[in-house]
Amino acid sequence: MALLETNRIFVHFGGLAAVKGLSLSIEPGERVALIGPNGAGKTTFFNVLTGQIRPSSGSVHFKGMDITNHSVYARTHMGMARSFQITSLFPNLSVMVNVLIALQGIRRGRYDLRRYFLKDKELVAIAQELLESVALWDLRDEKVSSLAYGQQRKLEIALPLASSPDLLLLDEPSCGLTPAESSDITSRIRDLGPKITVLMIAHDMDLVFGVAERVILLHYGEIACEGTCEEIRANQMVKEIYMGSRKSVTGTW
Ligand SMILES: Nc1ncnc2c1ncn2[C@@H]1O[C@H](COP(=O)(O)OP(=O)(O)O)[C@@H](O)[C@H]1O
Ligand SMILES: [Mg+2]
Repeated sequence: MALLETNRIFVHFGGLAAVKGLSLSIEPGERVALIGPNGAGKTTFFNVLTGQIRPSSGSVHFKGMDITNHSVYARTHMGMARSFQITSLFPNLSVMVNVLIALQGIRRGRYDLRRYFLKDKELVAIAQELLESVALWDLRDEKVSSLAYGQQRKLEIALPLASSPDLLLLDEPSCGLTPAESSDITSRIRDLGPKITVLMIAHDMDLVFGVAERVILLHYGEIACEGTCEEIRANQMVKEIYMGSRKSVTGTW
């Protein structure tokens, strides 16, 4: 059974159809990249998957259940997580406290004072594992605001992992990073392990080709083509669609 399935998703903003009949299916353990020029509808489609917006029509199934009208919260509890935005981190709190807050948020009914949860050994152990997975454990006591941009982005990837998701959704995880930081993020995502299914939006072709098993090209809200990295690399239509928007692509083709 597919882990995630969408059936003819349409999203209209007034007269604009941002997503036009998008159907796709993602198997457990797959690593899929969604690419396409700016304005193709990638983020809008993501927002439908995570529950931030409702589609104008069509349905989303997760683990066989129709979740089209489920809240973001309900989806998180079913095992779906998306990367946080830097703006959703607490800049004046330490890295560790940010992770603990994310972990607390997942554990319903266990909101408590910081003083209390810092002593919760089990939580701290999970936080340590998470931070080590993105090489931020040594910086656990630093304020988030004092971290370099690339380190903040890594924290954004670590936080959704706090809910032990089955499906991780990442929207341009390497955006704004240096090539070295980007390649670091690429290996972190690659190392996530086979239990976590990944669907990510990416412009950085090094990230796409470094992580994805399947690449889907969106163009004007529709799937223009899809295939393995080799197929996408060799596909003339992909090149042509990207030629007009070269600025939105980084990395080596
Ligand atoms: N909230 C919104 N209201 C109106 N138009 C929107 C809204 N969000 C996105 N759009 C439009 O929908 C189209 C797809 O946008 P988006 O999903 O952000 O594309 P991408 O992430 O591929 O760059 C664009 O034309 C964008 O201007
Ligand atoms: Mg976008």
